[in-house]
Amino acid sequence: MPLTQANEIFAAKRLENVRYAIRDLACVADEVTKQGYKVLPLNVGDPLNFDFQTPPHIVEAVYKAMRDGKNGYAPSPGIPEAIEAIRGEAARKGITTVQDAFVTSGVSETVDLCISALVNPGEDILTPKPDYPLYSAVLCKLGIALNAYDLSEDDAWQPELADIEHKLTRRTRGIVLINPNNPTGSLCSRQMVEQLAEIARRHKLVVFSDEIYDKLILPDSNGDATPHIAFAAVAPDVPCITFGGMSKNYLVPGWRIGWGIVSGDAAAVKPYTEGIHRLLRARLCANHPEQYAIKPALEGPQDHLIEVRRKLRSRRDLTQKWCESTPRVSCVAPRGAFYAFPRIDIPESDEVFVKELIRQKHVMVVHGSGFGQKPGTQHFRIVFLPDEKTLTTAYAGIADFIRERYGNG
Ligand SMILES: Cc1ncc(COP(=O)(O)O)c(C=O)c1O
Repeated sequence: MPLTQANEIFAAKRLENVRYAIRDLACVADEVTKQGYKVLPLNVGDPLNFDFQTPPHIVEAVYKAMRDGKNGYAPSPGIPEAIEAIRGEAARKGITTVQDAFVTSGVSETVDLCISALVNPGEDILTPKPDYPLYSAVLCKLGIALNAYDLSEDDAWQPELADIEHKLTRRTRGIVLINPNNPTGSLCSRQMVEQLAEIARRHKLVVFSDEIYDKLILPDSNGDATPHIAFAAVAPDVPCITFGGMSKNYLVPGWRIGWGIVSGDAAAVKPYTEGIHRLLRARLCANHPEQYAIKPALEGPQDHLIEVRRKLRSRRDLTQKWCESTPRVSCVAPRGAFYAFPRIDIPESDEVFVKELIRQKHVMVVHGSGFGQKPGTQHFRIVFLPDEKTLTTAYAGIADFIRERYGNG
């Protein structure tokens, strides 16, 4: 055997199903950039790439913490003042049965840690389809088979209860709810949350409620601004971990600050919470100085959110209007976060659509198959964070591409 082959180090087989949607596209975008074109990035959910600014008082809090020498390891569950502020936030969300709260390096770490602390080999948890790809990546990493339930496009992307019941097995330990949702921008109704709680009760499931976008709720086209419903507020008795963080609501994704709020019956969640703390201790701590921004963020002025939601509403409306007026495109209007997940009626895969769109019109969106979707359907995810001028240029490019490649259908 040639030496080069013998020396090749292969990655673990269990990673084979980890999806690389965004990275695959980056290679195509690099090609186009090398040819001298500027790619319009409607693919990355980082507000700081666009006209959004971190509230200055929280930057000052971290700066002060660093100057004050808070640069060593922090306590593993987080600094006490941050944990207290997170408990206060839980109370504002209406969660009355908080049993624990801890700080992590972004919600990404909360997801990894909470799933790792729960699921044994041979067991599974239900994840939404489409989903935020980190969930399936963590499950692949743990060697846990995916068990995805459908979100119903015909019902504003609400979870399909019948599919959940169908997918549940005796080995299902938990269920993930992403609300508001990435990639669809949908918001769960109170009735849906109540029905999910009923299923969780009946099947003794832990609920992972990812609420990282809970302050980015947009009114619908009639101006109806139904508020966000926290799962744990509706189901105080159900074992639940509510995921929250600073990346999106407080415009600091690079700080890597998230948290978990454990709620439910105290005795029931105790052993699981102890397992989580074992993992929290093993990884030492979350970023230390950044934790000093949690209290001022959650308890200080929230003015920036008014401006963020104003911009997002205008950009969502523009996106929705474009979807409604463009042949072969339809879209459930997003109600939260900054994503739209339009459906496209085309005779080829959405992955080809997206790659050719980058090559020909230099607009970058992510294909629906990168998030999971029902067989036979095609979608793409738009991040509508860019300003109106950029979005208008990008949407004109996508419309031209559809017309030139597929006709108006
Ligand atoms: C639904 C959802 N959960 C979690 C995360 C990860 O967030 P963090 O930056 O806190 O790790 C994201 C990031 O885009 C997300 O969309």
